[in-house]
Amino acid sequence: MNRFNDLADFSVAEIDSLLELAQRLEREPEPRALEGKVMSLLFLSPSLRTLASFQAAMQRLGGGSFVISPDMSIHGIETRPGIVMDGVAAEHIREAVPVIASYGDVMGIRAFAERRSLETEIADKEFEELADLVDTPLINMESAIQHPCQSLADWKTMDELEIPRTGGRFVLSWAYHPRPLPLAVPAATVKMAAMRGMDVVVLRPEGFELPEPIMAQARTLAQTSGGSVSETAERSEALQGAHVIYAKSWTSTQHYGNRAGDQALREELVDWCVDEPWFETAQADCRFMHCLPVRRGVVVADRVLDGPRSVVLAEARNRMYAQMAVLHRMLKG
Ligand code: CP
Repeated sequence: MNRFNDLADFSVAEIDSLLELAQRLEREPEPRALEGKVMSLLFLSPSLRTLASFQAAMQRLGGGSFVISPDMSIHGIETRPGIVMDGVAAEHIREAVPVIASYGDVMGIRAFAERRSLETEIADKEFEELADLVDTPLINMESAIQHPCQSLADWKTMDELEIPRTGGRFVLSWAYHPRPLPLAVPAATVKMAAMRGMDVVVLRPEGFELPEPIMAQARTLAQTSGGSVSETAERSEALQGAHVIYAKSWTSTQHYGNRAGDQALREELVDWCVDEPWFETAQADCRFMHCLPVRRGVVVADRVLDGPRSVVLAEARNRMYAQMAVLHRMLKG
């Protein structure tokens, strides 16, 4: 494996094999498996879990890692193509990325969407341009439209909880947030649940539809796995019989890149905060999932987040084991 960019690049059998490896590494640690190997971590966007879990994963496997981010005392990095660099930035990303990659055996890059062009960001052009500069194995640590490490950890979490694949109802629900957030997690999540063979319902207010190319890809994946994908704004209909309510806020696709238009829609939607009544017609043991970080009392009520339905800490912990499996497969074969 040379690239870990999109779960949909793999078959379900390949994902199951990665998840078996993750379980094995959790049960039977291999503290020398990646001895002498180095991971370079380039964070152009903020993180807690991804940063800490990759460092911990490399260390647990006997390797090492280093982090580069614009917050550190590095030269200012210019990312715009074709620019005359007569401003503050002293280094261009076109040199920085291959230099950083050359110090490691595997590289991870995080670069969120700038939310300027939906078409460019669905095509993940910025990340792909960076990926072209890397000649080591590369892991997408969240780009404009992908977050495969989160999806692999979420799949592992659902398997451990014995949440059904075929016949399991997975509701990916939009939730209120004061700011427009990227599409990477919802796009990756709808595809992950579809590949897992679940009946996936995207519950979102009007104006927050997921982009059609993402929904079309999810429908195709669902067909192969025996699941289904639908989209609705009707909360009561969506939540009936749910095994999982996965909350996430995202930007308005109707007003993509238009902060004022997004805000006007969003400010009417503060009641999209997941709370106990959302679970009334769901399965009795319906779980609450979220990738974190999450805003308490905004995205989800404390009593849900702190209650027995919530599996957010298991999802976060599984990031480390899922990534250990990816690193092991990439660097050890
Ligand atoms: N879920 C996730 O990627 O968390 P961080 O943004 O903290 O890395």
